[in-house]
Amino acid sequence: MQKSVSGFSKLTKTEKIEWIVNHYLSGSKASKDTLLQYVNSDEKLQQLHDEFIENTISNYYLPLGIAPNFKINDTLYAIPMAIEESSVVAAASKAAKFWMSRGGFKAKVIATTKIGQVHFMFPGDKQKLQAFFNAVKPQLLEDTKDITKNMEARGGGILDIILKDKTSEIDGYYQLHATFETLDAMGANFINSCLEQFAKTFKAEAKNHLEAPVEIVMSILSNYVPDCLVRAEVSCPIEDLKDKNIADPELFAKKFLQAVSIAEVEPYRAVTHNKGIMNGIDAVVLATGNDFRAIEAGVHAYAARNGKYSSLTHAKIENGVFTFWTELPLALGTVGGLTNLHPLVKVALEILGKPSAKTLMEIVAVAGLAQNFAALKSLTTTGIQEGHMKMHLMNILNQFHATDKEKETIIHHFKTHTVTHSAVVEAITALRQ
Ligand code: MEV
Repeated sequence: MQKSVSGFSKLTKTEKIEWIVNHYLSGSKASKDTLLQYVNSDEKLQQLHDEFIENTISNYYLPLGIAPNFKINDTLYAIPMAIEESSVVAAASKAAKFWMSRGGFKAKVIATTKIGQVHFMFPGDKQKLQAFFNAVKPQLLEDTKDITKNMEARGGGILDIILKDKTSEIDGYYQLHATFETLDAMGANFINSCLEQFAKTFKAEAKNHLEAPVEIVMSILSNYVPDCLVRAEVSCPIEDLKDKNIADPELFAKKFLQAVSIAEVEPYRAVTHNKGIMNGIDAVVLATGNDFRAIEAGVHAYAARNGKYSSLTHAKIENGVFTFWTELPLALGTVGGLTNLHPLVKVALEILGKPSAKTLMEIVAVAGLAQNFAALKSLTTTGIQEGHMKMHLMNILNQFHATDKEKETIIHHFKTHTVTHSAVVEAITALRQ
């Protein structure tokens, strides 16, 4: 019987599990056992995870895989990826290996500026507001000194604050638009604390110096970071593209460019194309304890920055050289937040050689580019289903708890037959009779 509840957060974990099982899982013992099975027996470790969020009842595992052989700016990386989708790690690994022998990936951080805004309403005179802002700006900076001193000591901090007039869009709407350098931190807490202090000072001073009231609506960082940008690239002479699936490199390069051009002009394709890029990006972002929702939001906004949703990757052929690249915004951190807390995140960062935020931006962009290269290579040559169906076959066999011997026989059978769910079920049933 489903039921509302008050004080749920005050219940112990066992009581929470009891409650959810009784009211939403028809008292199922099997469901309860599953929830309990995923609770870690190491109490300290479990408590750590319990405290990441609220109302924890269990853990939700994702596999952590490794895509090795990534040569990036002449350094070799084995990239940790946390993802549930089959084929992604395999595709990344294949692309890494392909490019390792063709010069590897080149990546470069273009800029690292982050943004936050205080949104406010002011019904009074524009010129007076601008004059007031100019006068109060030094105090806005001064009043955040306690928050910024450590960041400044390391070379970061507030870069600038400007007043933005947005009254053409909403009557009386203005912003304090601030830019920040947060170095190796993602910087969300730092930025939000600075913004809330700006808002306090701004409102208090406005009371004394402006005839109309300043009404603060909200103070919050922006996840749209078009000036926190990284570029990743691969390139080689066209003839070097030859491999076991690319018999005709000229034709491959031509079709590859066509596939990229289609994603550049056709939003339906661009979304799927970019989804493939995010397969690589999110998996590394998640493994390294960063906020993949923030990254997703920012990247997709960037993909639509010219007014039409478009490809995040581009390709060209010039003087017989094939070049494939991406430029995308990634606000990442390698200190603070989950990076200091989650034991697996620490290990993931160690695997990557404890990178700076800038190096992590490069690695993540490369993972996205590699993923897109692998997807387009499959799509324009063998098609995507060949690899997927192999995985699909294995998943079905595992669902049926197939033995190694059964797996061998059935995999052999499907080398010459089309994999469908029903065909695999039939084959297992026949084999077992
Ligand atoms: C699947 O997760 C991703 C792809 O659809 C990407 C693409 O079509 O480019 C294969």
